[in-house]
Amino acid sequence: MGRMRSFLLAAALSATLFLLTAANDRTPAVYVFGDSSVDVGNNNYLPGNLGKVNFRPNGIDYPGGKPTGRFSNGYNVADFLAMKVGLKKSPPAYLSLTSDAQMHGVNFASGGSGILNATNFSVSLNKQIDYFERITHSQKTRLGDAATSLFLSQSLFVVSTGSNDFSVFLGNLQLLNGTQIHEIMGFLTQQFKNQLKMLYELGARKLVVFGTSQVGCAPLLRRTTPSGDCIEELNEVSRLFSNAVEVLLHDLASTSKGLSYTFVDSYRVMAPVLSNPSKYGFSEIKSACCGSGTLNAESACTPNATYCSSRLGHLFWDRTHLTEAAQRLIAEVAYHGGREFVRPMNIQQLYES
Ligand SMILES: *[C@@H]1O[C@H](CO)[C@@H](O)[C@H](O)[C@H]1NC(C)=O
Ligand SMILES: *[C@@H]1O[C@H](CO)[C@@H](O)[C@H](O)[C@H]1NC(C)=O
Ligand SMILES: *[C@@H]1O[C@H](CO)[C@@H](O)[C@H](O)[C@H]1NC(C)=O
Ligand SMILES: *[C@@H]1O[C@H](CO)[C@@H](O)[C@H](O)[C@H]1NC(C)=O
Repeated sequence: MGRMRSFLLAAALSATLFLLTAANDRTPAVYVFGDSSVDVGNNNYLPGNLGKVNFRPNGIDYPGGKPTGRFSNGYNVADFLAMKVGLKKSPPAYLSLTSDAQMHGVNFASGGSGILNATNFSVSLNKQIDYFERITHSQKTRLGDAATSLFLSQSLFVVSTGSNDFSVFLGNLQLLNGTQIHEIMGFLTQQFKNQLKMLYELGARKLVVFGTSQVGCAPLLRRTTPSGDCIEELNEVSRLFSNAVEVLLHDLASTSKGLSYTFVDSYRVMAPVLSNPSKYGFSEIKSACCGSGTLNAESACTPNATYCSSRLGHLFWDRTHLTEAAQRLIAEVAYHGGREFVRPMNIQQLYES
């Protein structure tokens, strides 16, 4: 009897231990959607040369100095978030897959893409969601509906987009009055809401959405002003959109059962960095590291462009993309930051919830 009881106890204990271990070791999946801020190489597979960065000096600080198709000198925000949640590898680029059995997630992001279909020279967000739907279909065939739903509900869905849509509509900002800008923002926000809703309907329950930041402070735009200042009108548009995205997330969560989210207020994350760069380790926030001419922003980071040696001190890698150092900082704040920067909870809290 006694022996039997202790056997049962041991069995119960080991079952409990197994469950605990399973919960703690649960390797999460991360699904990534968006633009060049989180692309890990999808654009390498597009026809033509548009929107490609799979050549040196891009990736010069990536392991092996490899130009992977990331728009950076090294890792990007998607990579740092994957590391934070304990993945051994950043989720692979969807277009690089040879099998759809990707248990730790997939990255659908494509440089140059956005919310609007007009950004379809690369893989627009709508198309990325189509691709995700295909993946979930085959996962359901393999694992069944219930297991797939459970798996997706525990996964993180990271979305970083919007900046490219501003250029589609607001190339001639001066020609638009306030009413028109609000109408455009309303349209953009509505489209984005439909897309996030679609992700929810396909099974996403933990959404991480990055707001747009000071796009008018990119070297490309600073270069167009006499003293290298930011284009404040463009920043204002970005702030409007970002605020609207936070409101839409709040609305979406209040009508979507089981949906939690983290809104990353990238604009607020960047504000102190731009006003007090040295405090964050940056000595150069106006010039691109890689490029040519004024502010190193007259050309993109081409194979024959020059690049700086102090990549830890530069905010911008090329004329529109951040350095690895800047992306690390953003990921850090997004993951661990306080409510000033991430609401209603940070990514760590979302992930552990
Ligand atoms: C964008 O394209 C998708 C098809 O990929 C279509 O369903 C949708 O209606 C289009 N959206 C707009 C605003 O044209
Ligand atoms: C891109 O979208 C436009 C409509 O916005 C459509 O006319 C065009 O065929 C699309 N191009 C591709 C490559 O899908
Ligand atoms: C904004 O521009 C549109 C189109 O030109 C015009 O119809 C509208 O009256 C303008 N609104 C204001 C407030 O100026
Ligand atoms: C790089 O080479 C191309 C043509 O080979 C030229 O048009 C471009 O100006 C060069 N760029 C730089 C930064 O030297």
